[in-house]
Amino acid sequence: MKALILSGGKGTRLRPLTYTGAKQLVPVANKPILWYGIEAIAAAGINEIGIVISPETGEEVKAKTGNGSRFGVKITYILQEEPAGLAHAVKVSQSFLQDSPFVLYLGDNLIRDRLQEFLAKFQQQQLNGLILLHEVKNPSAFGVAKIDDRGRLLQLIEKPKDPQSNLALVGVYFFDRTIHQAIAEIKSSPRGELEITDAIQTLIDRQYNVQAMQLSGWWLDTGKKDDLLEANHIVLDDFLETKIAGNVDSDSQIYGRVEVGKGTQLINCTIRGPAIVGENCHLENCFIGPYSSIANDVTLIDTDIDHSVILSGAKIVNIHQRIVDSLIGQRAQLILASKRPKAIRFMIGDDCKIELMS
Ligand code: TTP
Repeated sequence: MKALILSGGKGTRLRPLTYTGAKQLVPVANKPILWYGIEAIAAAGINEIGIVISPETGEEVKAKTGNGSRFGVKITYILQEEPAGLAHAVKVSQSFLQDSPFVLYLGDNLIRDRLQEFLAKFQQQQLNGLILLHEVKNPSAFGVAKIDDRGRLLQLIEKPKDPQSNLALVGVYFFDRTIHQAIAEIKSSPRGELEITDAIQTLIDRQYNVQAMQLSGWWLDTGKKDDLLEANHIVLDDFLETKIAGNVDSDSQIYGRVEVGKGTQLINCTIRGPAIVGENCHLENCFIGPYSSIANDVTLIDTDIDHSVILSGAKIVNIHQRIVDSLIGQRAQLILASKRPKAIRFMIGDDCKIELMS
């Protein structure tokens, strides 16, 4: 059994962050999203992992993630020259996959369930394909599955106007080698991509045994800002444990589950968990509210933050209005230079969004 994680793509929905970095490396609770997938795959006992990368962000993914030794797996990087679809990514990975069965894992998806139970069913029943489903409120925005009462997959419909179920296709799939033949037969969709849903539909039409299982825990697709904030909220809620390695002065207060990384200074701050502060940060006279993740090398002075994700090297000074539901990019600076500003000076990148709320 092998694994293929897709970490290429365009990442248009997470711009501007994805102009300068891979969306799969954006952290959730201070850990790159991609690493959650690698850890889940390693925990299921699969140790040969291929990671599909793009020419734009591939080097960054490689440099950060390495050869897999930190996860106890062997990672092979596979370059996909253009983001021509999920099935195209499988196609360019054939020399890595060969005839092996494999789990296909979208590098921006997070699931709570362990992979073991699904893998056992796939292997014991010698399925040609196993897809995972999760109930959603707005099925029209997803690939939707029609299944019979024995869990056999009947049909997949991409973003249906009139959905027949509320079961969306999750970004984790199990396939045997028959998928390669199906991919060889499909044509590009109207949006110009080789779609994995079309390849799965081909397997179903040819009477191959493709089954579906429902997740019992959460599923998060972190492609957009609000999804990312929700992922951060849920992961902090579920997994964070108290660990204080940095320096917390006697005027600071910490409530609930909070992690503070080494080399970080907290001076006269209040932190309400669950919240995480990375390494080598400087926080002075700040309030950090629940569900906030602050990455490494961040400076926060006289600032209030709640339910937000601040990426590495960012600097926020003197912002007393509470910063809520926000995502602040790497090395971004937000500084109030005087107590009663008469003017505001901006240097804002493309596709940024600033909301001043009453
Ligand atoms: P998507 O989120 O469907 O596509 P995208 O990354 O192009 O994002 P956006 O819609 O914001 O432009 O991709 C799911 C995952 O698969 C993601 O981790 C990127 C990866 N991917 C590839 O590796 N190759 C591809 O050709 C495509 C389309 C996606």
